[in-house]
Amino acid sequence: MVFKMEKIINIGLIGCGTWGRNYIRNFEHLDDAKMYACCDFSEKNLQHSKRVLSSLKIYQSPEDLIADPEVDAVIVATPAVSHFELAKKCLNNGKHVLVEKPLTLTSKESVTLMELAKKQGKVLMVGHIMEFNPAVVKLKEIIDSKELGNIYYLYLNRTNLGRIREDVNVMWDLAPHDVSIVNYLIGQEPKRVSAKGESYIVEGTEDVVFLLMEFENNILASIHVSWLDPCKLRRTTVIGDKKMAVFDDMENVDKIRIYDRGITYNPKTEREFEDFGSFQLSYKYGDILVPQLQLSEPLKNQCTHFVECIKTGSKPRTDGENGLRAVKVLEAAQKSLKNDGAFVDI
Ligand SMILES: NC(=O)c1ccc[n+]([C@@H]2O[C@H](COP(=O)([O-])OP(=O)(O)OC[C@H]3O[C@@H](n4cnc5c(N)ncnc54)[C@H](O)[C@@H]3O)[C@@H](O)[C@H]2O)c1
Repeated sequence: MVFKMEKIINIGLIGCGTWGRNYIRNFEHLDDAKMYACCDFSEKNLQHSKRVLSSLKIYQSPEDLIADPEVDAVIVATPAVSHFELAKKCLNNGKHVLVEKPLTLTSKESVTLMELAKKQGKVLMVGHIMEFNPAVVKLKEIIDSKELGNIYYLYLNRTNLGRIREDVNVMWDLAPHDVSIVNYLIGQEPKRVSAKGESYIVEGTEDVVFLLMEFENNILASIHVSWLDPCKLRRTTVIGDKKMAVFDDMENVDKIRIYDRGITYNPKTEREFEDFGSFQLSYKYGDILVPQLQLSEPLKNQCTHFVECIKTGSKPRTDGENGLRAVKVLEAAQKSLKNDGAFVDI
């Protein structure tokens, strides 16, 4: 009897720095794929990866890794400024590719990658990891079930004393997470955005940015990202007309809290009021519910999904289109930043 062997997908990793190392760790736990090779300009980072996984094939040049016929798919975990060129080379060489966030630094580049992936029949996926976070998926279910009612507004905080990057400002570094959360939760593109920021530490590189996204139906989303803050916050607050919810990724277990709170305005005729003004608003201070979550590591979920898409040919949840939607917001926000916060249409 002949058994058809399931092919193990060989992964090549370009960039085994702070974040890339997490991919090496996560692929150790996957059955259908293995971390086969890695590439970095830094000898120190290459040696570190080799110590973690001795079977790794090591490359000093991305071109050599991409040209290796044993490599089926590549993960690009290098600084954002190199994402486009590296992903383009991977697709041109017939490799599936998962690109860390942001997919690219311009929407034109994202579209080029999408077209190339289509032409080559290869998977293009972006590492919008928050969409693989079980708490964010749960929050989306809660919103879609209308438990919160109609959404009024959201605000997101991603702050701490962060690592100041050389290639991008804090918005391109941190806000891709929040823009992807907002796009996923709201399920529509914003009409226009505005962004104000300042470069307090390194001239010309904003270390704090306040980004505002305006949607249909008066929905507002505000994102505060900062490398210059005493508190590490990873929080999304959603205000609906029935209830409110907070997702706090710094919590280990109880990541979501639903607050049965709100204010109702009851316009009455003047005659109905004994004391005019005091009875027009009713405040609700109801229960706080903590939904149970099946927690799992978001990066592992993302890697599993990438492998599944390669094996089945299905469209990734965070495909090129999804990456482009976030890049369009960030690109418009960058224009706004340079124009003193003026609104820019999407
Ligand atoms: N999803 C997340 O939560 C998350 C978290 C952190 C970083 N990231 C993303 O991961 C990427 C890398 O971030 P990091 O913090 O690991 O940065 P890092 O600087 O620690 O590591 C980047 C590595 O890439 C190498 N490198 C740079 N250009 C290269 C090239 N052309 N070819 C081969 N190697 C190259 C560098 O030598 C370095 O070792 C960024 O895109 C960042 O946005 C994602």
